[in-house]
Amino acid sequence: MTAAARQEWIAAQLSDIVGNSGLVMASEGLGRYCRDWSGDIVGIPLLVVRPRGVEQVSRIVAFCAANELKLVPQGGHTGLVGGGTPTDRGDEIILSLELMNEIGALDEHNFSLEVQAGCILENVRAHVADRGFVFPLALGSQGSCQIGGAIATNAGGLNVLRYGMMRELVLGLEVVLPDGRIWNGLKALRKDNTGYDFKQVILGSEGTLGVVTAATLKLFPQPTQIETAFVSLHSLEAVIDLYGLARRRLSDLLSAFELLTQEGVEISGQANPLGEPAPIYVLIEVSASGPVDVRSLLESFLEESMGSGLIADAALATSTAQAASFWKIREEVIEAQLRRGRHLRTDVSMPISAIPAFIRIAGDVIGKISSDAIVLAYGHVGDGNLHFNVVPPAYLDEGAKVAFLHECEEAIFAVVDELDGSISAEHGIGRLKREAFLKRISPVHADLLQALRTAFDPAGTLSPGRMLKEMPR
Ligand code: LAC
Ligand code: ZN
Repeated sequence: MTAAARQEWIAAQLSDIVGNSGLVMASEGLGRYCRDWSGDIVGIPLLVVRPRGVEQVSRIVAFCAANELKLVPQGGHTGLVGGGTPTDRGDEIILSLELMNEIGALDEHNFSLEVQAGCILENVRAHVADRGFVFPLALGSQGSCQIGGAIATNAGGLNVLRYGMMRELVLGLEVVLPDGRIWNGLKALRKDNTGYDFKQVILGSEGTLGVVTAATLKLFPQPTQIETAFVSLHSLEAVIDLYGLARRRLSDLLSAFELLTQEGVEISGQANPLGEPAPIYVLIEVSASGPVDVRSLLESFLEESMGSGLIADAALATSTAQAASFWKIREEVIEAQLRRGRHLRTDVSMPISAIPAFIRIAGDVIGKISSDAIVLAYGHVGDGNLHFNVVPPAYLDEGAKVAFLHECEEAIFAVVDELDGSISAEHGIGRLKREAFLKRISPVHADLLQALRTAFDPAGTLSPGRMLKEMPR
């Protein structure tokens, strides 16, 4: 059979399952299914299949397994490590979950909600907010990212210090296994200590152990008071002291503690809410749903911090619009990097206490590689998680930029290793971090990974080359 005839046969078989409207052929222009949000990763799928329901997913997966066809589940294209984007070899079928976007019943007394995998995070958040709840996974990409992708990659984001990562926000899962069988683990239990916890095995498995089709999410009461402050500091050490004090003084109501630098505020193009520039800034959010006076709590914390010289200056938002303008700075740092084209995005973690040393050492290391690169450090202090990014000198051509950024990445990862940190705190491994990841794990760790993968997907056709090396054929 010629390649074209084979592709036609595959399309015909899949169309029997999903109908013609569930298939997208290369000739139709595959657009967004080919590329990730950053535009750095662009591939060519064999074709794109869009099931409507778990039974269809099961049949697609079984068909692909039986015919040794590579199948890659795809969510909202915002994973940043190439997990859901096809390679450029043109031999992967993309399984888009976008048509499976039903929001199920909300159980008010159980604080839980069942959703299909293709639901957009923002829609889920809005749906529960209308009913007095919050689903507290908060990401810059929440307008596009899908619940299934957030589960497969164990997404993190801005409120992890209070609510945990996706791993802590899922009560149950429905998963199609790599041979097409359906595992129904859609329970809504907070305690279920009956042997291996398969949902936790699937969470963060990046599409290598199964396709997430639905989930029961854990909800929380919607905060009725949210207070936001933007503060400036003179040193990185002060940031860590301030975080410690915030934990103690704010009655565990801290919901975000985000670091920004002067370079970040500048590149964001947004006005600095404080009169005087300073080297470091922190965005603090405190929230509660009960009768606690969150505003006075935050005011007295800021007064104490100012009195002791821990912070240089502070602005406490007086309206939701002003709070949004503080957050806009954080968002625009990301957009500004994107506008500058190819850049290095890292997502590293270390003990919170090691953050100042990391930023200092990694900054020196990059400075030695080039004094013309822009370093942007920002991130989630409370999670010991920083995005230590590098925008290359504009005078380098594309090829030179790739080599330059690779050198920077290796240098940054070496500092992470010194501090016993992680080279991927919240974005996962995918294809982009695979080599760096596999190079760092012990033989025992590698054996366990492979054993698990083989137990679930012996043929290695689901998300091949993500996290682990592709199986030789
Ligand atoms: C952030 C994403 C990129 O924190 O992880 O902005
Ligand atoms: Zn982040």
